[in-house]
Amino acid sequence: MVQPFIVGIGGTTRSGSSSERLTIAVLKETERLGARTLMFGGAKLAALPHFAPESPERTAEQLELITAVRAADGLVIGTPGYHAGISGLVKNAIDLLEDTRQDKRVYFDHMPVGVVVSAAGWQAIGHTLGAMRAVIAAMRGWATPIGVTANTVAQTVFNREGEIADADIARAVAGQALQIMRHATSNTHHAEQANRNHLENSHAV
Ligand SMILES: Cc1cc2nc3c(=O)[nH]c(=O)nc-3n(C[C@H](O)[C@H](O)[C@H](O)COP(=O)(O)O)c2cc1C
Repeated sequence: MVQPFIVGIGGTTRSGSSSERLTIAVLKETERLGARTLMFGGAKLAALPHFAPESPERTAEQLELITAVRAADGLVIGTPGYHAGISGLVKNAIDLLEDTRQDKRVYFDHMPVGVVVSAAGWQAIGHTLGAMRAVIAAMRGWATPIGVTANTVAQTVFNREGEIADADIARAVAGQALQIMRHATSNTHHAEQANRNHLENSHAV
């Protein structure tokens, strides 16, 4: 069985970014369930130039993200709610993935995508979660039913040891990771099956 590859994208440049830490928490949980993972956090996202549709040149950092997403079986995208929407930093990374539009697998086609949102208020959380799900739908991905949301003012998200302190958030992290892995594993299983059928048929003369 092929080990699913799950890529995390998100966070802010702020040290201790909650959206980044929660995105990593989902990745860690998918690792526990058998995945290998790669994270593109705030610092890596900040190294990406502003996406320019007319420019075909790509930096090494841009290529690293595009290559990882092309190889991914699932994604986790984490954003803060900035002015009740997706941050520019995270949206810039997503815009770059326009490069996958003409791939064999277009954009995020059939991929499970977990969404992580943290904000200081519930309304921004709701708007941003919905906005990210619309982006994922536009890119043909399958947003997991479970979103991970954290209100950084009303909830204690992490304890002093750096673990998730809130039971509801911890449950959402575990549940989202499970949904990503179920979907990713089923996709890789069907891809393997299709490949096997193709090989068997090509030998049947
Ligand atoms: C530029 C900016 C705009 C923000 N806008 C909102 C907002 O509209 N609503 C809200 O609830 N919180 C808002 N916040 C608060 C952040 O969403 C919140 O602090 C979030 O947890 C930051 O994510 P991080 O911990 O990953 O850095 C804003 C913060 C910044 C810096």
